[in-house]
Amino acid sequence: MYAGGVYCVASMSTLSCSGWSDIASLVWQHAKAEVVLEALRGNKDTLGWPSEDAQDAMVREVFEHTKDFPVSLRYLKHLLKLLRHDIESSSSQDASATMSDAFCELYISSVTAATKSLEEDGDDEAFFTYVLPSQEKVALRVQRAHNQVGLRAWEAGLFLADLSLSPSLSSLFAGRCVVELGAGVGCTGLLLAKELPVEKLVLTDLPQEVLDNLEHNVRLNGLDTNGQVIVKQLDWKAVDTEFVTEQEPLLARADVILAADCTYSVDCCFSLVNTIESLLVASTSSSSSSSSSSTSSSASSSSSSSTTTTTPPTSSSSPLPLPELIQNTPLALVASTLRNQETMDTFKHTLSTNTRLRWNDVTAWANEVLGETQKFVYSNRSNIRLFLVQLAPP
Ligand SMILES: C[S@@+](CC[C@H](N)C(=O)[O-])C[C@H]1O[C@@H](n2cnc3c(N)ncnc32)[C@H](O)[C@@H]1O
Repeated sequence: MYAGGVYCVASMSTLSCSGWSDIASLVWQHAKAEVVLEALRGNKDTLGWPSEDAQDAMVREVFEHTKDFPVSLRYLKHLLKLLRHDIESSSSQDASATMSDAFCELYISSVTAATKSLEEDGDDEAFFTYVLPSQEKVALRVQRAHNQVGLRAWEAGLFLADLSLSPSLSSLFAGRCVVELGAGVGCTGLLLAKELPVEKLVLTDLPQEVLDNLEHNVRLNGLDTNGQVIVKQLDWKAVDTEFVTEQEPLLARADVILAADCTYSVDCCFSLVNTIESLLVASTSSSSSSSSSSTSSSASSSSSSSTTTTTPPTSSSSPLPLPELIQNTPLALVASTLRNQETMDTFKHTLSTNTRLRWNDVTAWANEVLGETQKFVYSNRSNIRLFLVQLAPP
């Protein structure tokens, strides 16, 4: 158990919540207010919520951090109203349970500011803070008012971070060059780079606002923009192997390619698959990754070359052995939330008809690695699919 909490997939409640650090982590990730309240009530280490001592501790342990990294105003207002209601309902049974001065002050200032700002339609910028297994915090700025999908954290991005940080997978990233496509606010790559000794992380995306926000998040978390972590503009529609090899030597070094929730429309499937292919081809032929030839046939028993069938291969129910994955770099891990069956089918069909690639649906394996718990607050896990993409044997 670590300070960031471990969440039950079904209820999103913390399992054996260990005190204020877990309550704080729930709030900083914008967990449902009802879940926060349930954790407060069920936790012996929270000084008997809603006692005044507990309220004071809550203000200190949870809301000091949000002065620098504010949660969304809408969320804050809803949460504080629910907590106030809980305190007031308890006080009808127990006169000693009244609002503490510190809670009252927080409530008045926050709810007043939130109401004013929401009236002006100002609930734009907010921070999501994630506590890693090492207890390091990663704060990510999201900007909801912009009509940009890359300015918020998506479920599959957190799923991929969750999985990547699991002990069985983390060695895949140590000392490797990781390239993330469509990195958005950085919820996969930055959580990974803050926790694991990646040699290089190249975060890519397209719109300038998304890249600016990504740069901001890299700096905010003390990850040097010109060193270990680099932000780069990369348009999937403009990528081919020659372009990567000649103009983007850094991308041509990719050992591991990540993409989360990048298959959200039929339109982007072809260019995304094409980009993955170009990066895998470039990195396989580049000297830095020549040792990681993807021609090993060790995984082929459970995979199919895309030339042999148009029916997407599926993984067996038993998890793929991890060493096999590691030996078979360079590889791409693509996590996608199933929102629209046609889009998912188009993505799989595009993979299947690309003769240079082979792929596996490794969702069952990923879920076996994670079990019934998750390290971060995200929903929809049963709809997230994970695909492992490699070059097909020549
Ligand atoms: C749904 S968001 C997912 C963001 C992030 N991976 C996550 O999980 O939170 C999809 C991302 O793909 C990016 N994207 C869409 N089309 C792109 C293209 N042609 N080239 C590069 N990035 C693109 C978007 O800007 C956005 O950041």
